[in-house]
Amino acid sequence: MKKQILALFMAAVMAGSLTACGSSGADATTAAATEAATTGGDAAEAATTAADADQESKEETTAAESKAADSGTAGGVLVMATNAEFPPYEYHDGGEIVGIDVEVAGAIAEKMGLTLEIEDIAFDSIIPELQSGKADIGAAGMTVSEDRLKNVDFSDTYTTASQVIIVKEDSDIAGPDDLAGKIIGVQLGTTGDIYASDYEAEGSTIERYNKGFEAVQAMIQGKIDAVVIDVEPAKVFVSQNEGIKILDEALTVEEYAIAVKKGNTELLDQINGALAELKASGELQAIIDKYISAE
Ligand code: ARG
Repeated sequence: MKKQILALFMAAVMAGSLTACGSSGADATTAAATEAATTGGDAAEAATTAADADQESKEETTAAESKAADSGTAGGVLVMATNAEFPPYEYHDGGEIVGIDVEVAGAIAEKMGLTLEIEDIAFDSIIPELQSGKADIGAAGMTVSEDRLKNVDFSDTYTTASQVIIVKEDSDIAGPDDLAGKIIGVQLGTTGDIYASDYEAEGSTIERYNKGFEAVQAMIQGKIDAVVIDVEPAKVFVSQNEGIKILDEALTVEEYAIAVKKGNTELLDQINGALAELKASGELQAIIDKYISAE
């Protein structure tokens, strides 16, 4: 089971990085070829120009990427990859992306003298984005896991979370054991996905959605029986919808941390230093309290 998950994970990572390298070279080639054609150059010339441009663009990309990867200081910007479908950690509010992770990353960037830039992408694209150097940090309510540690490095943790089960109020599912044989909805590539997938061996079907909220909607519409998701987003989704509830028994205890490209210790040290300051000053807790009211 574990191996299978890792294999899938690696395949996704590889697909992500292949796409990333493929595009810039191809674009440059097309552009150069078009230029040569329109300016009346012959075929051989066009080919040379295209090859040169391809080579050049690769070098430029590599230089820019390694600069960004060194410490995240490319152009004074700290690029944060996230998936803003995860309230209260990151979500859309009007035209803006807000939430705990946005504010924590913003405070870290400020301490580093950088401007935070947010890249809102699919959750399972965040790790490939770090690996290709297109983003400096992944801040997305991301749980530290053994498998992920093979592909990225994590900062010190900044909060604890858990996976919970959401069901309809009149559901016959009362706890984790009742998930056997049911249709379970999750957000693709999350720890909820990995955890729920264990139930496939017990005859359950897993429906994987791009957004956690889509899974909740599918359940409200009666298409699936339960949703496995992180506790704080679960509370938000339940508060926004009638007739659904969170089961008392949590499935896991997890820790969230910020991910960086594997081996980028310079950036990791700066993040950990900033996080330590935010913890000591009470600023981190204040940010969390702003979005999560104590029970
Ligand atoms: N904690 C879970 C994980 O790391 C879910 C995170 C989903 N985050 C998001 N921004 N959509 O897999």
